Amino acid sequence: MSIVWRRAVKRFGDRTALASLDLEVEHGEVLALVGGSGSGKSTALKLVNRLLDPDEGAVLVDGEDVRAIEPHALRRRVGYVFQRLGLFPHWTVAENIGATPSLLGWDRARIDRRVDALLARVELDPAVVRGRFAHELSGGQAQRVAVARALAAEPPVLLLDEPFGALDAITRGQLQRRFVEIHRELGFTGVFVTHDLGEALLVADRVAVLADGALVQVGEGRELYERPADRYVASLVEAAIEQADLLRSRLCVRGESP
Ligand SMILES: Nc1ncnc2c1ncn2[C@@H]1O[C@H](COP(=O)(O)OP(=O)(O)OP(=O)(O)O)[C@@H](O)[C@H]1O
Ligand SMILES: [Mg+2]
Repeated sequence: MSIVWRRAVKRFGDRTALASLDLEVEHGEVLALVGGSGSGKSTALKLVNRLLDPDEGAVLVDGEDVRAIEPHALRRRVGYVFQRLGLFPHWTVAENIGATPSLLGWDRARIDRRVDALLARVELDPAVVRGRFAHELSGGQAQRVAVARALAAEPPVLLLDEPFGALDAITRGQLQRRFVEIHRELGFTGVFVTHDLGEALLVADRVAVLADGALVQVGEGRELYERPADRYVASLVEAAIEQADLLRSRLCVRGESP
């Protein structure tokens, strides 16, 4: 299922959070939305599952204006990993993951099977974590459960808002790789919000750069590198490369190649 923002505008009072966004995510593609704090990334995501509606323009999923899709159908179509406060802390892991299937009227046995299959998919042992309360999980476990929950109703569209922020580098790397594998297995259409261009290049097919609510450039990593649309995109790419180079030079003994 494709996702299209068509001249989508969102204002909060006199502040324009999103200024006429024209952007398309193709069927089965993962697009990363990159930009600084306040650039409109979360706002753009929220227009897709109708946490917000645009003031002008429209958002289409599979060619249909999301405002015309019946709420239950939209919930089935779109999974969402929230930037924060994702899980209900006093619900168990199984209750959190089963929330949407339960709303959709699945029977108990089917939900239980689904919960266990999803936990295995994000590499958590169902027997160990199924009955734990969400507030008892580590940060990395909670992020895995949040991804499992978003996948619960097998949505063809998955939106992830900085899902692996605030994690240590190793856990983050593991989850990024697992995400790529899960996408390969399931083939959903995804939008992955991150402020980290390095992460964007790892998890996504193309990258869209937002600044002050406007789309600056969209393309594959190599295009951003070779033909940055402006100074901001160039500096994002340079910063990511500089960091990798710096790390390599710090870690490598002279004369050794990395
Ligand atoms: N509910 C709201 N009420 C008022 N202003 C809002 C609201 N939500 C977002 N904004 C404003 O809209 C702009 C875009 O916010 P948004 O949350 O989309 O940014 P973001 O790119 O996701 O930032 P971050 O990386 O910090 O999460 C910001 O200036 C923000 O303050
Ligand atoms: Mg945000």
